[in-house]
Amino acid sequence: MTEPMQKKVKVPEGNSLEQLKATNTVVVADTGDFESIARFTPQDATTNPSLILAAAKKDDYKQLIENAIAYAKEKGGSIEQQTEAAIDKLLVEFGRAILNVVPGRVSTEVDARLSFDKDATVKKALEIIELYEKEGISRERVLIKIASTWEGIQAAKELESKHDIHVNLTLLFSFVQAVAAAEANVTLISPFVGRILDWYKASTGETYTAETDPGVISVKRIYNYYKKHGYKTIVMGASFRNTGEIRALAGVDFLTISPALLDELITSVEPVPRILDPESAAAKGDEKVSYLNDESNFRLHLNDDAMATEKLSEGIRKFSADIVTLYELVGAKLRNSDA
Ligand SMILES: *[C@@H]1O[C@H](CO)[C@@H](O)[C@H](O)[C@H]1NC(C)=O
Ligand SMILES: *[C@@H]1O[C@H](CO)[C@@H](O)[C@H](O)[C@H]1NC(C)=O
Repeated sequence: MTEPMQKKVKVPEGNSLEQLKATNTVVVADTGDFESIARFTPQDATTNPSLILAAAKKDDYKQLIENAIAYAKEKGGSIEQQTEAAIDKLLVEFGRAILNVVPGRVSTEVDARLSFDKDATVKKALEIIELYEKEGISRERVLIKIASTWEGIQAAKELESKHDIHVNLTLLFSFVQAVAAAEANVTLISPFVGRILDWYKASTGETYTAETDPGVISVKRIYNYYKKHGYKTIVMGASFRNTGEIRALAGVDFLTISPALLDELITSVEPVPRILDPESAAAKGDEKVSYLNDESNFRLHLNDDAMATEKLSEGIRKFSADIVTLYELVGAKLRNSDA
């Protein structure tokens, strides 16, 4: 089905994407668009409200929305309850469609407005997993995506330890968040490289190379710390502004890359040597610290990091705005179909 697209672009032998995959890094497509997923054959993929909003405008996916609405109407309740049910179902329908084309896992986001409520986050995650399992998809193939707030990390700990539910901690910008995530035995963290760079560029007015890039430095530090202390939490670099940042992290566990940058990598033959590896991490990693059971210290250290504090807040606001838009769209459809 992707043949016509592939013919347009020349894909050289031994291209940078192939080389990157050979450094032990698993590549994930940062897209909910099925055509790109099929083209780049990533291991895993993700869905979130903004990707769903974009996809929902295409005729191909209208059926998924209709299915979700029909499901919610059958469940009944107020329009608000039906909207919530329809959106949960929609996230799962998209997730299921993605799992038809990727061999690994799909991430599904918990409503970002629950980011400061541990119990509500756990409840929503359990509901999403139940929906997946009703469709015959085991929890092994799903990552619940949660913001790396204090409450989010505590929710992640409970989901992983009590329910065997795997978590992808997102909006992770600081070492403090990464330390607590590892102590919580979270399956995967996705630190945002490009968003860190954006903040530093805006606040210092300086330019950065791949070596001085604060986002790259942050992920390297986390990787070295995890490997040095034997944490199994997967480090997945996300949000890249250029392929230099990606090459500077070659060897990290996972990278999630936008279709545009995947295109650049797949059509380039620039060398991609391995930069990160567990052996040299032992020498470079920080000494062990602990934050998971110390709320005031976690908050204080996160607060000390202006970049992480601002980016976390901004990220939650943006994710929340997306889910609100999705609620409005689905709510309107439910009301219209009642008329
Ligand atoms: C984890 O979440 C990030 C967003 O923070 C997303 O880009 C990534 O694809 C997710 N990882 C996996 C393995 O699904
Ligand atoms: C994380 O896993 C380790 C090793 O299995 C275990 O000793 C520890 O108690 C776990 N921590 C939490 C918070 O579940």
